[in-house]
Amino acid sequence: MPPLSNLATRDVETLVHPYINLASFRDTGPLIIERGRGVYVYDTEGKPYIEGMAGLWCTALGYGNEELVEAAAAQMRKLSFAHLFTGKSHDPAIELAEKLKEIAPVPISKIFFCNSGSEANDTQIKLVWYLNNSLGRPNKKKIVSRMKAYHGVTVAAASLTGLPANHRDFDLPLPGFLHAACPQHYRFAQDGESEAQFATRLAAELDALIVKEDPATVAAFIAEPVMGAGGVIVPPQTYFEKITAVCAKHDVFMISDEVICGFGRLGTAFGCEKLNFRPHAISVAKAMSSAYLPIAGVMIPENVYQALLAESKKIGVFGHGFTYGGHPVSAAVALKAIEIYLRDRIFERAAALAPIFLARLEAFNAHPLVGQARGLGLIGGVELVADKRSKRSFLPQHGVGARAVQFAEAEGLIVRSVLGDVLTLCPPLVISAAEIDELFDRLARALDKTLHWVTRERLAQS
Ligand SMILES: Cc1ncc(COP(=O)(O)O)c(C=O)c1O
Repeated sequence: MPPLSNLATRDVETLVHPYINLASFRDTGPLIIERGRGVYVYDTEGKPYIEGMAGLWCTALGYGNEELVEAAAAQMRKLSFAHLFTGKSHDPAIELAEKLKEIAPVPISKIFFCNSGSEANDTQIKLVWYLNNSLGRPNKKKIVSRMKAYHGVTVAAASLTGLPANHRDFDLPLPGFLHAACPQHYRFAQDGESEAQFATRLAAELDALIVKEDPATVAAFIAEPVMGAGGVIVPPQTYFEKITAVCAKHDVFMISDEVICGFGRLGTAFGCEKLNFRPHAISVAKAMSSAYLPIAGVMIPENVYQALLAESKKIGVFGHGFTYGGHPVSAAVALKAIEIYLRDRIFERAAALAPIFLARLEAFNAHPLVGQARGLGLIGGVELVADKRSKRSFLPQHGVGARAVQFAEAEGLIVRSVLGDVLTLCPPLVISAAEIDELFDRLARALDKTLHWVTRERLAQS
């Protein structure tokens, strides 16, 4: 292991990093990114990388967008902070809320602003609990999400998340959070089961789960249209139609977590439009501001708003809110980002590029290391396996995905590896067709190097 640079040593001695083995990280140190332009970021040595993950599924308009920079600077000069507490307001928040209502795929009555996807999903849960208290059904409180879902890391959002590392030794999930089956055909379909049959079974299982728990106790179901951090899992055909029917049957409130899929990732403004379902409420974050500044939102229907009114009358105040929720500078940037999305037809552009992206992605299905390469729109996952035929995964301690990420970085490409050695891809929506080709050329070289290493270390055998 080469010695760490001075900056890397200072990092290791001062920061706690999310989502890394903190013990081995002390030896490897960080990749320190210094600047960005377009779809490229540059490390402290000046080496360029294609940002194949749009940061963390969020920098949809790429780096160095002067219009966004100017929107932030202008708002900072005009009014650097104002809040929405205790009856105060400001025009960027009002305008942004209006814009979100205008582009919403379902009837939305109001927007509640917060700062992160986790806060948005936490808020969704609190509002559903409030709703059911207001409706006089205090027992209808359980929330259903799914195995491998990712909804964030605050205490309630982490309880929604269906990944072991977000629960283990954090004493989570909290009681009352249930996890339905993961809609991954590749891993969980039975022999000979078609996508539609698999979807029918999952809907029947959800129905059985709700009945077992008692529908009078089940309040809401939350889902990402395409699961991101769980390994880019595209649900089987007809899944959401069938799941939505089950929710409707039991009067279960349906929330679409659009933190990744919102704002064009699947080639439509919202992921639920691509996957053909109509949620009651929507969580948005990330690409809403193209991640130039943090901002998130909870988009709620009229009946939830009516519950907030009723509870406010009863209690005297709506006791929820974040200091920086709807921050005027973040809101001004988000407004500008949405203006650019609509003006430059970025969602349509993503839809037009998707066939090129998916063709290159799916070509990896022929690679000896790849169990399945899958995606939708401009999001993709490449699941590495020890044995293609049996779909056997590598042992987690071999860190095959993490090693592939290192090979990709050596090739000048940033990708991520998530649970089960799935390499995830989510490039900025402004990527060009030529840059997509370059991204996949680099990934192909990284996969070949990974294969060479796996073979040399005989990792496929254990
Ligand atoms: C679908 C989804 N929901 C929620 C979150 C949590 O967002 P944050 O990290 O901003 O709290 C994420 C983050 O990746 C996400 O992918």
